[in-house]
Amino acid sequence: MNLPSENSRADSPLAPPPQCPAAHGPGGITRLYGTEAEHNPMGLYERLRKEHGQVAPVLLHGDLPAWLVLGYRENLEVARTPSRFSRDSRLWREAREGRLTPTHPLAPIATYQSVCVFADGQQHERWRGAVNDSIGRFDKRGIRRNVTRFSNELVDRFCATGRADLVHQFAEQLPMMAMTLLLGMPEEYGPRLVNAARDMIKGSATAVESNAYVQETLRKLVARKHLEPGADFTSWLLEHPAGLTDDEVQQHLRLVLIAAYETTANLIANTLKMVLTDVRFRASLAGGHMTLPDAVEQVLWDEPPFITILGRWATQDTELAGQQIKEGDALVLGLAAANMDTAIRPDPDVPIHGNRSHLAFSGGQHECPGQDVGRAIADSGIDALLLRLPDLTMAVDESELKYRSVLMSRHLLELPVKFTARQPSLPDAARPGPVEPDRDDAQPAQPEATPAPPAHAPRSRGSWWRSLRRLLGRG
Ligand code: HEM
Repeated sequence: MNLPSENSRADSPLAPPPQCPAAHGPGGITRLYGTEAEHNPMGLYERLRKEHGQVAPVLLHGDLPAWLVLGYRENLEVARTPSRFSRDSRLWREAREGRLTPTHPLAPIATYQSVCVFADGQQHERWRGAVNDSIGRFDKRGIRRNVTRFSNELVDRFCATGRADLVHQFAEQLPMMAMTLLLGMPEEYGPRLVNAARDMIKGSATAVESNAYVQETLRKLVARKHLEPGADFTSWLLEHPAGLTDDEVQQHLRLVLIAAYETTANLIANTLKMVLTDVRFRASLAGGHMTLPDAVEQVLWDEPPFITILGRWATQDTELAGQQIKEGDALVLGLAAANMDTAIRPDPDVPIHGNRSHLAFSGGQHECPGQDVGRAIADSGIDALLLRLPDLTMAVDESELKYRSVLMSRHLLELPVKFTARQPSLPDAARPGPVEPDRDDAQPAQPEATPAPPAHAPRSRGSWWRSLRRLLGRG
C-alpha cells in the first residue's frame, strides 16, 4: 500500500495519463502504462509471462525502468526478504539521480514519507506495531453493526428512484463513512472530511487543498483525543507503548484512511458486479455452495483491489527468476498476476472456496494489517444492501461496464442497477445527511447470533439469498 504525498494532483498515477503512448518504449521494453496496460492489464501480464518468465522488465510512467514480478512464489520471495528488497523508496536509483521529480506522476506514491509503508526493520516494527495493535482492538461486531447502519442510510438516499449507480452511490461512500467513525471523528467532521479525503486520494485538481483540510482535521483530532480519549483508533495510537509523537500519529491516521478507501471501495464494487453477473456464482449459490464471504474471497483472487504495488527497491545486486536485478532497481509486486499463476492455480475457472492464500493483501512484513476490517466492511455492507433491495438487477449489459486501470488499481467506473422503487425507511433519509458516529461503540457487543436489529432493515437476514434462489427456481 502506497499513499499519495502532499504533492498529489491531477497528474497522479491514480488518473489516466493524458495520451496513450505505444505499448513499447526504448529498447523495446513493454510500458506498464498506456493503452494496453489500461484496457487489458491481465492480458498484458500473461504476454509478459510468456516472453520473460515470472519476472519481466517494464517501463513505468516517464519510461522509468522497473521489474514486474508475475509469479506467485517470486512475489512472496520479494515481499518476505527485506534484506534484498526494501520498502524504502529512497534507494530508488531514479529518485537518487533526479529522474523522479516532484511533479512526476509517480512522485505521490513513491516519494519517501515517515510512515510504516516506507520503513523496514526496527523503525517499521515500531510504527507497524502501534498500527497493528490498535487495529486489533477494533470491535469487529461493532464494525458490522455500524456498517449495516451506514449501508441502510445510503440505500435510503436512492431507494425511491428504482435505479442507482452502485459505484458512486454505494461502494465509494461506505468505506470512508466506516473509517471516519473508527478513527473517532466527531460527528460534525463527517461528510466534509469524507469528501476531502476522497478528493485527496483521487488526485483531482483540488487535491492539494483537500489534503491540507484532511491534515488540519487530523491534527485537531489528535489534540482533542489527548483531552478526551475514547474507544477509537486515534486514542489507541496515542496511548500505545511505542510512544508515537503527535505528528507520527497524525501521519498514520492519514495512511489508514488512504489505505482503506480505494481498496475497500474496489472490493465492494467488484463483489457486487460478481454477485449480479457471474453465472458461476449464481450456480454455486443456488446449489448452496457459496456464501457472500466466499464471494468476497473469490473476488480477492480474481480481481484484487490493487492489481500491483510499486513498493520494493533492491538493496544489492541480486537474482530473481533468472533476471539480474541491480542495486537501486524498482520492483512492482504483480498481485493480480500472482493470483493467476498456473503454478499455484492450474485452472482459474475452478472456484477456490475457503482458500485465503491469495496475494490481494500482499505478504511478508508489510502484509495488510487491515484485511479483516476491509472484509467486514465489504461483506456486511453488501449483505445489508441486498437485504433492502432483494430484486436488484443490472440496468445495463455486463459488456457495457467500463474500468479505469492505472498502475496499482483497476477500478469499475459505474455499476448501474434497477430495482422496485421503495420509500426510504427513515423520514428524512432521502436527503444526504451527516455521518453519525455510534456512541455505543465502546459498549460490549451483542453476540453474533443475535445481532441488534438494524433500525430500519425491513427484512430478515437471508431474505435476499432466498429471493435469488426463488428466481433461480431453487427456493
Ligand atoms: C479490501 C481492502 C484492502 C486491501 C485489498 C488492502 C491491500 C493492501 C496491500 C496490497 C497492502 C500493501 C502491502 C505491501 O506493501 O506489501 C496494504 C497495506 C496496508 N494496509 Fe491494506 N488493504 C485493504 C484494507 C485496509 C484497511 C481497511 C486498513 C485499515 C484499517 C488497511 C491498512 C493498511 C496499512 C496500514 C498498510 C501498510 C502496512 C505496512 O506497510 O506495514 N488496509 N493493504
